[in-house]
Amino acid sequence: MSTPTKGNDEDAKKVVDLFRDIFGYHPGFRAVHAKGILLRGTFNPTSEASSLSTAPHFRRRSTSVIARLSNSGGVPTQLDADPANNQNGLALRFLLSSFPRREKTDIATVSTPFFPAGNVPDVIGFFRALAAKKVEEFIRTHPAAAAFINAPKPFPSSFATQQFFSINAFKLVGKDHKVTYIRYRIVPKDGVFHLDEKEAASKPPNYLYDELVKKLETGPIEYELLAQIAETGDVTDDCTVHWPETRKLVKLGVVTLESILPNSDEEQKDLEFFDPVPKVEGIEPSGDPLIDLRSVAYRFSGADR
Ligand code: HEM
Repeated sequence: MSTPTKGNDEDAKKVVDLFRDIFGYHPGFRAVHAKGILLRGTFNPTSEASSLSTAPHFRRRSTSVIARLSNSGGVPTQLDADPANNQNGLALRFLLSSFPRREKTDIATVSTPFFPAGNVPDVIGFFRALAAKKVEEFIRTHPAAAAFINAPKPFPSSFATQQFFSINAFKLVGKDHKVTYIRYRIVPKDGVFHLDEKEAASKPPNYLYDELVKKLETGPIEYELLAQIAETGDVTDDCTVHWPETRKLVKLGVVTLESILPNSDEEQKDLEFFDPVPKVEGIEPSGDPLIDLRSVAYRFSGADR
């Protein structure tokens, strides 16, 4: 289990402060992914999942989940098709037990596989450049940041047609202590459908959330939880180094989102932050330094709600 360091505390605080410089300070809301909605549902694993990891939610027939779908920016009133903030988030909490001890583990994913930086100094450098409106200058000397800025980030037609990536790698440990490095993907059962620019520009401010409410009246939304499997030699501690698309994808299970949580707006303020550090046997961080940095940053941001 990884322990946050003092260095991480200072660095994470710096990044959260930079988010507030970029998006403004909105008390009661997340520093980023400020606009979102909480749902409840279930996770049903495949048999492949339990052969890769001893994690309880991969061994049980069914586990309750809480999910939060979000927009990526730090402004709670952000338009869903705002070109300045065109990413979505999907955070999942697997509720493993409530007694005698509350046990849970989380996955937080976003809708592009790109992240602008693979180490702590570059994360700070990127968001500092963004806050100072000097990104153009920064990307000239930072190819990963350039790849992130230039990556297409189309708006989805619906949350139910958006796909999501953990970006960071994780280490799955099986019964025989066999280690497999993976990156999660969450893929909608309805297929991936995006809007073109003209369609996006014509959408109402909250089109994703309005559509979600209507869609859930007709039935649940389903996503497949997949693991992209690393091969020997693949980089697992730098999320800007992508693994070839030919890497095997293993289906770990199906996430079914059934309903919006009553009092979602209040509940998402009270909810303990989604922690990128795994909290169960059978899943460990990969050595990617951003996992700890994220965990501490989420704690700082969450402490302010
Ligand atoms: C590397 C890939 C990353 C992914 C996939 C990711 C994903 C997410 C998601 C889905 C959320 C929303 C959680 C929720 O709904 O409550 C979130 C929130 C957040 N992220 Fe990230 N993130 C990444 C990197 C980072 C980094 C490097 C930082 C800063 C060091 C960061 C800082 C934050 C903060 C402060 C929040 C708000 C947490 C809260 O207040 O609960 N993220 N992220």
